[in-house]
Amino acid sequence: MDFDELPIPLAFPRAKCQDSGAMGLLQSEFSSTLGLQCPLIVAPMAGGPSTVELVVASSEAGALGSIGAAYLAPAAIKETIAQTQARTRKPFAVNLFIPTPFTPPTEAQIQQALAKTKKFRDEFHLTPPDPRRFVEEDFDRQFEAVLSMKPAVLSFVFGPLPRPHLLEAKKLGITLIGTATSPEEALELQESGLDAITLQGIEAGGHRGIFDPLAPDPEIPLMELLRELKAKIKIPLIAAGGIMNRADIDAALRAGAAAVQMGTAFLATTEAGTSGPYRRKLLERPDRETRTTRVFSGRLARGIRNRFMEEMDPRALLPFPVQNQFTRDLRGASAQAGSADFLSLWCGTGKGPLRESSAAELIRDLFAEGPCAPIPL
Ligand SMILES: Cc1cc2nc3c(=O)[nH]c(=O)nc-3n(C[C@H](O)[C@H](O)[C@H](O)COP(=O)(O)O)c2cc1C
Repeated sequence: MDFDELPIPLAFPRAKCQDSGAMGLLQSEFSSTLGLQCPLIVAPMAGGPSTVELVVASSEAGALGSIGAAYLAPAAIKETIAQTQARTRKPFAVNLFIPTPFTPPTEAQIQQALAKTKKFRDEFHLTPPDPRRFVEEDFDRQFEAVLSMKPAVLSFVFGPLPRPHLLEAKKLGITLIGTATSPEEALELQESGLDAITLQGIEAGGHRGIFDPLAPDPEIPLMELLRELKAKIKIPLIAAGGIMNRADIDAALRAGAAAVQMGTAFLATTEAGTSGPYRRKLLERPDRETRTTRVFSGRLARGIRNRFMEEMDPRALLPFPVQNQFTRDLRGASAQAGSADFLSLWCGTGKGPLRESSAAELIRDLFAEGPCAPIPL
């Protein structure tokens, strides 16, 4: 992150930080209201890295753990929440993807996608899947499954939560957090009546939360989003993208964030479900080279450069979420072969070696270095 131009403001309405005693943890109004001991959300990381163990460890350590439930069927969502609730009484979040409307691919698009991926599938002797038969998870049933388990927080990406859903969740006292990548999206989310907004800077690992899947990426750095929005948005802002250490956290809080959301920094912790070849790639070099791409899912996402990113023809993609299902067999075969060539290696731009300790140790070290010095109480 580039914090060089950061002005040191005199007041921090959303980030009233204080040293909360023995552990020297930071607090903000947002985090204390939620019952957290530090203003940190450990990001939802659907597709493997988010495990019950990571969520429980994060929440027990005083942060807000998040279940990445987007790819789970309703019954699996309930089961995962139940397992988490059995192991912690602390608050945690459940995260879903707002459905992306798409036009089903034409026969010509399907044939082109099959042709362009043939050479990759041949390497693993895979029979190509039939994109005409893919079925999407039913969002309404996923949502009902979440509500039936009443988690403290429901967070989501890819758009606003429809009004009836929002009212239903609010009735149950569930805190709602949406995701924005631009000022326009943040203002729309605020209008919709949410409790907080995650601002996702261009630095962030994983899917870009852009509402329109085909729109160009606004590519706005996190600090710019915070600067532009801290006066315009009246609900708490959560800063996401490239936050790796205490200096990054302090800078985000100083710029007006009420909390931070960190994903990449937790990918190599012992509790994360990150696969072996993915972990090796993350740990191989401290200056991980990332870029955004649509080739894995049809939506833009940031990950470490690998062979599939380089060699897959970006003109032969199916729409999200069809492309995501279409490339799943390649990811599975790649992982099984111990290769990172075809994996979606989601990762942010933050540099430095990743911690391989437990999530609790990482959280303790992030927040135990005393109060956030330059911030007035
Ligand atoms: C492996 C991985 C998976 C992710 N999956 C999700 C997800 O399921 N839902 C979501 O809202 N954000 C997801 N994200 C994005 C995070 O919420 C967050 O924006 C991002 O991790 C912040 O940037 P950082 O990785 O540089 O910390 C994911 C990020 C990563 C690295």
